[in-house]
Amino acid sequence: MINSRAADTLGMDEAQMRALGHQMVEMVIDHLVGRSGEPAIEVTSRARLEALIGGPVPQDPSDAGAALAQLRAHVIPNQQHGDHPRYFARVPSPAAFTGILGDWLGTGFNTIATSWVGGSGPAVTELIVIDWLRQALGMPEGTQGIIVSGGSLANFTAFAAAFAAKGRGIVYMNDQTHSSLKRNLTAAGLDSSDIRMLPTNDRQEYDLADLQAAIAEDRARGLKPVMIIGNAGTTNTGAVDPLPGLAALARAEDMWLHIDGAYGGPAALTAQGAEALAGMELADSLVIDPHKWLFQPYDCGVVLVRHPGALERAFAMSPEYLKDVMGGEDEVDLFNRSLELSRKTRALKLWLTFKTHGLTRIAAAVQAGIEIAERAEAMVRAEPEAWELVTKAKLGIVTFARVGAGAKDHARLVANLTAEGWATLSSTSIKGRSVLRLCTLNPLTSDDDLRGTLERLAAMKITGE
Ligand SMILES: Cc1ncc(COP(=O)(O)O)c(C=O)c1O
Repeated sequence: MINSRAADTLGMDEAQMRALGHQMVEMVIDHLVGRSGEPAIEVTSRARLEALIGGPVPQDPSDAGAALAQLRAHVIPNQQHGDHPRYFARVPSPAAFTGILGDWLGTGFNTIATSWVGGSGPAVTELIVIDWLRQALGMPEGTQGIIVSGGSLANFTAFAAAFAAKGRGIVYMNDQTHSSLKRNLTAAGLDSSDIRMLPTNDRQEYDLADLQAAIAEDRARGLKPVMIIGNAGTTNTGAVDPLPGLAALARAEDMWLHIDGAYGGPAALTAQGAEALAGMELADSLVIDPHKWLFQPYDCGVVLVRHPGALERAFAMSPEYLKDVMGGEDEVDLFNRSLELSRKTRALKLWLTFKTHGLTRIAAAVQAGIEIAERAEAMVRAEPEAWELVTKAKLGIVTFARVGAGAKDHARLVANLTAEGWATLSSTSIKGRSVLRLCTLNPLTSDDDLRGTLERLAAMKITGE
């Protein structure tokens, strides 16, 4: 009986499904094997891309193999390739094959991690993975969490838990906090006059005395300080705020400590990173993004909350039409931990990666990223006539300036390198100083990749502007 039913909802035949599936697997593995010979980034104009893959709404069937080939040829190349060994811009995403496989499996079976009855397998996988991360990052037993699409949504989810626990009031961040966090707060309805953006010191970290004074001043004005946001690796320079000091201050002031470790947090899996990030485990809520530095494909952001039930207190609902599928005492309805009701499972990929490679191997790959930035720093220091080091290698980020270059020069160097596609990096500014920035999270990056990138940048003309 089962065989008499078409395998595909829209009627594709089984032989073709198998052929296309195998074709796609080969395409992806060819890419992974040959990626260093492909561009690190490519961009094409909207008009050209529309001409290649647009047109009127397709009314009639066409060959799926040809359509897939069209996507491979025109869509896939035109993006930043975060898994490329010379992709040093913003924050790379060097996804491991186990992560890709886990995502494919989940998509192939259309897995859902929402109510308990609706997806007990995926839900348990998510709870297990969250607990593995909790242990690896040193948070206490009882800490709970949820996997969402990335750092932005994970930080938003944490803020909802913080406000449910502490009420609304004044929130403190600093000038190195990722810009999405301020956006999260205002989108959550906070008035921008309730957000304090403190200037950082010359290490790009909070000055604890300034923070304490700002809190005291707000209290003296009759306002209610509710949350301190700390950085466990800033996107600009990898700076880490004085986390134990922030935790002590938050406890003393009865405030919530949120730590954004979206990019830097996974460094705590290594001895060197754990030292730099000491105190991160004291957070009331902590965010890390496995699609940045835990070798997962997009999308995958994790929020961990120290207080059992805090996420549910912000997000729980129990409509009558979901009562049939809700879990019992020890079971978890994950839809009660964030804004997502229907939600894919993002846990299978993490589970498969942890299970296959183990924490030791994963930590070694994170350590490799830390050391690649240190080698880039040494290369910059070795050529003082070309480069000036601006911030030392920290958690896989190093910043430097081309001697004699201005902000326009740096922007042009990045644009030229990006247009060539051989490698790409970012420009940014630190306290008004324009810099170039390498983020080296991909353990596949070689010294030749670093050297070639610096040589290309050094050979480009600058004007001093
Ligand atoms: C420190 C930090 N926080 C938050 C974010 C936002 O994360 P996402 O892009 O996954 O939403 C980023 C992104 O780079 C980041 O580096």
